[in-house]
Amino acid sequence: MKFRRTRTLHRFLDDGTPVRLRPLEADDLDQAAQFFAGMSEQSRYMRFMAPMPRLTPSALDMVERTLWESRSFILVALAEIEGEQRIIGGVRIVPTDRDAVCEFSVIVLDRWQGKGLGTLLLHEVEKHAMRLGFHDLEGIILAVNTKMLAAAQHNRYKLAHHPDDPTVVMAHRHLYAPALRSPYRRGRRPG
Ligand SMILES: CC(C)(COP(=O)(O)OP(=O)(O)OC[C@H]1O[C@@H](n2cnc3c(N)ncnc32)[C@H](O)[C@@H]1OP(=O)(O)O)[C@@H](O)C(=O)NCCC(=O)NCCS
Repeated sequence: MKFRRTRTLHRFLDDGTPVRLRPLEADDLDQAAQFFAGMSEQSRYMRFMAPMPRLTPSALDMVERTLWESRSFILVALAEIEGEQRIIGGVRIVPTDRDAVCEFSVIVLDRWQGKGLGTLLLHEVEKHAMRLGFHDLEGIILAVNTKMLAAAQHNRYKLAHHPDDPTVVMAHRHLYAPALRSPYRRGRRPG
């Protein structure tokens, strides 16, 4: 196992809701299908860039592999729902064919969107990416995904149209550039 039962970070969303952030663990995989089922069709489409009515075995495999691959990482956010800590969002980084560059994808359950969680996840995963030796983080975002584009822009990602595909936008952030506005200020204090 790549990570021991790890340090859990305690943060707050913009509306004051407490959330926990920690790496995905093998025990969480059972929750993956439930998490997926809780997402709207549109959010699935935005994340996978294709219709995805159910979590395919290969998508689940991809999640599971991240647990063991040394330079891949998934950070999940949990909140208390009906007395239990449940996953409400997550961010994944995977290496690219360039040694110092990794690619991110982030997802937040619909009813938890717009509260700063996507931003918190992005900022936390940037620190993990640096620990894993990456210098740059990239993401491929559908050009119609205004929420993700806005979140990326607010977090100082540079956006550029893909040279060959007008339907997607490339987001890029050099990890050693200082953040414009600390998300920790945003995430630590209930409003
Ligand atoms: C894209 C996604 C991850 C964003 O998550 P989120 O928790 O809603 O993100 P945030 O709340 O941090 O940011 C989104 C909003 O806050 C704003 N925001 C983010 N950081 C901000 C900051 N520092 N200051 C001010 N506003 C900020 C954004 O402009 C955006 O505003 P909007 O809701 O009015 O459009 C979420 O919508 C999602 O899961 N979508 C479906 C899957 C997807 O598209 N994934 C991206 C694939 S790469």
